[in-house]
Amino acid sequence: MNDSSQLDELLASRASDSRRQIEPCTVVIFGASGDLTSRKLIPALYHLALEGALPTPYRIIGFARREKTDESFRAELRTALDQFSRTKPVQPEVWKSFSANLFYCQADISDPAGYEKLGALIRSSEHEKLRQNLLFYLATNPSQFGEIATRLSAANLLHKEEDGHLPERLVVEKPFGHDLQSARELNAELVRHAHERQIFRIDHYLGKETVQNILTFRFSNGIFERLWNRETIDHVQITVAEKIGVGSRGGYYEESGAMRDMVQNHVLQVLSLVAMEPPVSLEAEAVRDEKVKLLKSIRPLGSADLARNVVRGQYFAGEIDGEARPAYRSEPKVNSKSNVETFVAMKLFIDNWRWSGVPFYIRTGKNLPVSASEVRIQFKQAPNILFAAKSAIPLDQNSITLRLQPNEGITLRFNGKVPGAAIQLRPVRMQFSYDNEFGAYTPEAYERLLLEAIAGDATLFIRRDEVETAWGIVDSIRSYWADRPLTNREFYLAGTWGPTGADELLTNDGREWRNPSPQK
Ligand code: BG6
Repeated sequence: MNDSSQLDELLASRASDSRRQIEPCTVVIFGASGDLTSRKLIPALYHLALEGALPTPYRIIGFARREKTDESFRAELRTALDQFSRTKPVQPEVWKSFSANLFYCQADISDPAGYEKLGALIRSSEHEKLRQNLLFYLATNPSQFGEIATRLSAANLLHKEEDGHLPERLVVEKPFGHDLQSARELNAELVRHAHERQIFRIDHYLGKETVQNILTFRFSNGIFERLWNRETIDHVQITVAEKIGVGSRGGYYEESGAMRDMVQNHVLQVLSLVAMEPPVSLEAEAVRDEKVKLLKSIRPLGSADLARNVVRGQYFAGEIDGEARPAYRSEPKVNSKSNVETFVAMKLFIDNWRWSGVPFYIRTGKNLPVSASEVRIQFKQAPNILFAAKSAIPLDQNSITLRLQPNEGITLRFNGKVPGAAIQLRPVRMQFSYDNEFGAYTPEAYERLLLEAIAGDATLFIRRDEVETAWGIVDSIRSYWADRPLTNREFYLAGTWGPTGADELLTNDGREWRNPSPQK
């Protein structure tokens, strides 16, 4: 098969998958004047329109307080698209038909009259499905989620469905609560007005192609599936590193810290996909059941573990790629004595049959040397005989690295003989790169997530028990930190791999972090 027919085959299978029946739908975005709408949601919806993936017909209604007309709303979004669209230039014909489906509803979230106005706008459509099949996307401050659901319900726009039929759905952005208690309260508030099946909690990591590929890689390949357990795996490293600091988000970050911002959601989601048992099917509930089971088998951290196995850090002024970075405490809207963590590393154990005794080291942070997310499966050493016994330095352990971003792909690392008369070994790599294999096809996570929500498929969204279990893990750590100010050892220079404690977490176990490489 030549390259182009191979590519055709791949494209064809993708197209047939995405050609499932999606009903005409009205998408209402609350918080339509915000950043998320112009940076992510509208560019994602525009690309879905460009690919012909949206249902026919569809309607998008922006709901926000600022004074705007349909025309000025469209004009603003057109300008934003020029900046944030992942493909450029914006196609005039596609924009023309896309923008004709965009409407604006100027109203205050806490004003019942606004919901009457929204209802009238929805009912003004001639198409029956557009009046019934409603997706409410809550891109607002999380403190408003409950109120919006309550008011939608009072205005007869949201009905709790008990029979599995779900014409109305709520999509909620993170953060979903700020601890277990608040997440429970928010869940209780939402489920008063909508069934759990109607609630789609977003974690944009689940929309990433490479994150979805974790399950494909694990459960469709006989060779790797057999190796995925305590018999062969020495330990697992998950790194979600960011080169950026908190920038203008200091106000938000002071409330969240790395633990709430990244660990509670993205990092624990990646961990659960890497470690979960095979689901009985690919149905949403089967996959989510396994993820919850996995999160529940993470060993609770007692106070000795909290002191020994969890490391936090905060960045101090430094330099990245020749650019000076301020200390976290000097960032705008950050308390100059803040104890908020911008880095977390920890060692977790999963107390189930498959993973008993295998440490999972996870870390995430801001102002690190590179932006990269990777999962590294480090295999056990070969027996210390033959080549290993003869080698002056220990042989490299085999590993599989799942590169989630950037340079998306998978690397298998093993030892090879250096050509020549002497017996000399060194690690070599086998690489799979998304770009080389599939071309530069990198849809934004939001495209996939919006399409799934429109289609009513909840597989890539977080279920109630999942979010609550994750908060339980994070809360135990945060409360341990609460009355412990940062010590000198917990600061790290911007542009380094975190505080020294993060390295010690592994060196104490005779292991070391494998840092993602900055170049391709
Ligand atoms: C967001 C966090 O959820 O994820 C940000 O709030 C973080 O702080 C971002 O920068 C990282 O996402 P990505 O897709 O760039 O890895």
